[in-house]
Amino acid sequence: MDTELIVGELCKVTVRKFNPELDPEPYYSTYEIPYTRGMRVLEALDYIVEELGDSLAYRWFCGVKKCGGCGILLNEKPVLACWESVQKEMKIEPLPNFPILRDLVIDRSRFDKDLIRIVPWVERSDKYPGFPEKILPSEMGHSIEMMYCIECLLCNSVCPAYNEKSDFIGPAILVQLAKFALDSRDNAPRAQIAVEKTDIIDCVNCYKCVEACPTNVNVLEHGIDPIRSLIIEENIGDIAHHNRIYRDLVIRQGIVNPSTLLLKSLRTRVLYEIPLAIRMWWKGRISISKIIRGVFGGEHLNSQDEIIKLATTIKQNEHNEAE
Ligand code: SF4
Ligand code: SF4
Ligand code: FES
Repeated sequence: MDTELIVGELCKVTVRKFNPELDPEPYYSTYEIPYTRGMRVLEALDYIVEELGDSLAYRWFCGVKKCGGCGILLNEKPVLACWESVQKEMKIEPLPNFPILRDLVIDRSRFDKDLIRIVPWVERSDKYPGFPEKILPSEMGHSIEMMYCIECLLCNSVCPAYNEKSDFIGPAILVQLAKFALDSRDNAPRAQIAVEKTDIIDCVNCYKCVEACPTNVNVLEHGIDPIRSLIIEENIGDIAHHNRIYRDLVIRQGIVNPSTLLLKSLRTRVLYEIPLAIRMWWKGRISISKIIRGVFGGEHLNSQDEIIKLATTIKQNEHNEAE
């Protein structure tokens, strides 16, 4: 850490390098960098190129945590190179979950293409009132928090549901979608866009994106969850159906068993999924007796009573709020 290092002390820096056009596979190069007061990782990378004369590709622009371009993996943790203090020993790699253009430079083009798909602007149905437009913070809600996103993609790099080929669009784009969806001036069909363009249902609520975000955007609770709520409120597609089943199972049984969830989610389409069901049964993921108990209502464990009470109260509150 910064405070543990003395000016002039040598730091060992190991950098993953790879030029897809020349190198058969990635390799690591190690350097010694003399520490200077307040030194950031970006300065260590500069030192390798400018003082040691080695070739190294890395991306940066602002140097002050604004442009989001300098994301790297430092000792297995995603960070902004311009903002992170150097350490005595550093292993520096490109962000995971992206194709590598060269060395530490990732290919961000999927983000740019996906961004266009979610209509990244405020779409108004009423007339623009002119500048300056007065808007109360209360009218914007968590949309303001989403504006702190600097599009660094650290969240995508840790997301277990996202990779370069996944249908899931990733948390970084969902933050952009939430920014417009929660903006009181916007009238675009955001829930519809979320269902059709993002595969938002693939998010597994792991909070890794929240932990990784350098600007403290609560990606999950203030971005993804409100979009899901919109989908349920507007009753769009299978996601709303799936969520209602999930809640009703908790209310009835205090637990969600995969067998019943599958059966109720697919309804008559379950007939087309019989081969999948057989594979799941074979692997022990579903049980015929549990399906029967789930559909016709069965005994539940005493410890589930509290969960059932909680879920019933939540449903009742939602019902009261809707009225
Ligand atoms: S909470 Fe969802 S979006 Fe965030 S990292 Fe986990 S799976 Fe990805
Ligand atoms: S939400 Fe946070 S981690 Fe994700 S792109 Fe925006 S600033 Fe980066
Ligand atoms: S260089 Fe712009 S955020 Fe790091």
